[in-house]
Amino acid sequence: MNGVIVGVRKDSQTYVNMKRKACAEVGIMSFDVDLPEDVPEADLITKVYQLNSDPDVHSILVQLPLPKHINEENALGAISIDKDVDGFHPLNIGKLAMKGREPLFLPCTPKKWHKDKGAKSSCSRSVRRSNIVGLPVSLLLLKADATVTTVHCHTKNPEAIIKEADIIIAAAGQACMIKGDWIKPGAAVIDERSQRPEQEIRIPIEASKVAGFITPVPDGVGPMIVAMLLRNTLDGAKWVIG
Ligand code: GUN
Repeated sequence: MNGVIVGVRKDSQTYVNMKRKACAEVGIMSFDVDLPEDVPEADLITKVYQLNSDPDVHSILVQLPLPKHINEENALGAISIDKDVDGFHPLNIGKLAMKGREPLFLPCTPKKWHKDKGAKSSCSRSVRRSNIVGLPVSLLLLKADATVTTVHCHTKNPEAIIKEADIIIAAAGQACMIKGDWIKPGAAVIDERSQRPEQEIRIPIEASKVAGFITPVPDGVGPMIVAMLLRNTLDGAKWVIG
């Protein structure tokens, strides 16, 4: 596994360190690349190309967000699709979006959720449409035959939409945007930020009184994201090693 981190963002370092530690625990070698905040985009891309052609590297993860001077699309597009353990390469995301096509890798954060919660025929509401979580999770749930509505900052009357949902996936950038009394009794609630301190979670704690399932605070989805990354890395290695 190769975790590439640019700069010194505390949250990114925490995520990458968690991923590197988990690799060490299960015996996956992690070749760490830590680049300075002001690294030129061309140097980052050259590094990614080197990793693409290194036979000892089976998965590459460029931690997001990148500093503003680096074009994220260029950086993610440089990763070889068969090492794109995040599933963020446009070809992998494109296949995820198309009926009857399967990406080589599924993005780690949404990967587990759509399998676990029996999404078929449920009404799912994904809150936000980011490339990391909101968009891929909506596509995955759609593939799992759920009826999906994506609620975002321009959505009119989000309360009415969320009150209907059997599954709510909260990945909004704003804390407690969804109110506790919007949760339908018995609904499954997945808060992407629930591994963070309580004041940053996306769903107020009182939601746990009515939800049928809710991600735990603290820890939340964090351990699952790491597990999916390890699984994707293993799959990538198996394609090469057999
Ligand atoms: N930043 C926040 N979550 C993720 C993730 O799952 N992958 C990458 N590469 N960056 C992130």
